[in-house]
Amino acid sequence: MSQIDKLFELNQVGYGGFIFDESVAAVFDDMIARSVPLYADVQQSIPALVSMVEHDPVRVIDLGCSTGTSLIHLATQLPDIPLQLTGVDASAAMLEKCHEKLEQFGIAQKTTLVEADIADFEFNTTEPPSVVLMNYTLQFIPADSRLEIMRRIRQSIQPGGFLLLSEKFSHTNPKLDQQFVELYCQYKKQNGYSELEISRKRDALENVLIPHTVAENEALLRSAGFNNIELLLKWFNFGTFVAWV
Ligand SMILES: C[S@@+](CC[C@H](N)C(=O)[O-])C[C@H]1O[C@@H](n2cnc3c(N)ncnc32)[C@H](O)[C@@H]1O
Repeated sequence: MSQIDKLFELNQVGYGGFIFDESVAAVFDDMIARSVPLYADVQQSIPALVSMVEHDPVRVIDLGCSTGTSLIHLATQLPDIPLQLTGVDASAAMLEKCHEKLEQFGIAQKTTLVEADIADFEFNTTEPPSVVLMNYTLQFIPADSRLEIMRRIRQSIQPGGFLLLSEKFSHTNPKLDQQFVELYCQYKKQNGYSELEISRKRDALENVLIPHTVAENEALLRSAGFNNIELLLKWFNFGTFVAWV
């Protein structure tokens, strides 16, 4: 069970100091549920979309799997689909929490966890994935590495499969961008965060989480070779693309 996120009530991490360490892993499920609009909808959409893939087996790789929430939804909601699940994350603390949760759900044996930087992760060409999930993770990767990663993901996915990409977005119109940031602030307040917590976290994520616009993300997907792209969900400055192969 995730602890309640009081990280930024208790600590001031400082500009650009956010890392996925033990203290974040301990509260992560509560943090993401209260901080990311549409998170529950994205989670619900994952088994629905994966159930449409007609591969046997359906190999799913979750890049930036964190505490394994998506992997658990898949394993528990699609017991009759021949799934092969792999979670990849660079944070040992997140993977430890993920392993703990997979054990609680009795699915640790069925899931492979890999501690790796996504930039170095080698896709298995003899057992290629049907589905790649990359939810709220590309935004943490340096901008100049994103295209190469997307190209490798596109090349790895079997025809009939898809990439699900969720990101925080910026907007080119500065007024709109500011208004959406304020709406997001209100959203977090409604979910129990104080102004101090919100501003401390924003400082900690400065230059760590680098959002791009919807258009930039779409252009990135197209440059990587994805042609069939849908913006599946959007809430002001958050959204999810599905890109079919
Ligand atoms: C916001 S969380 C992702 C949430 C998760 N996908 C979900 O839906 O619950 C971002 C995750 O990406 C991981 N991460 C960030 N940069 C990474 C990188 N370059 N390689 C691998 N994992 C990375 C972090 O450790 C963290 O667990």
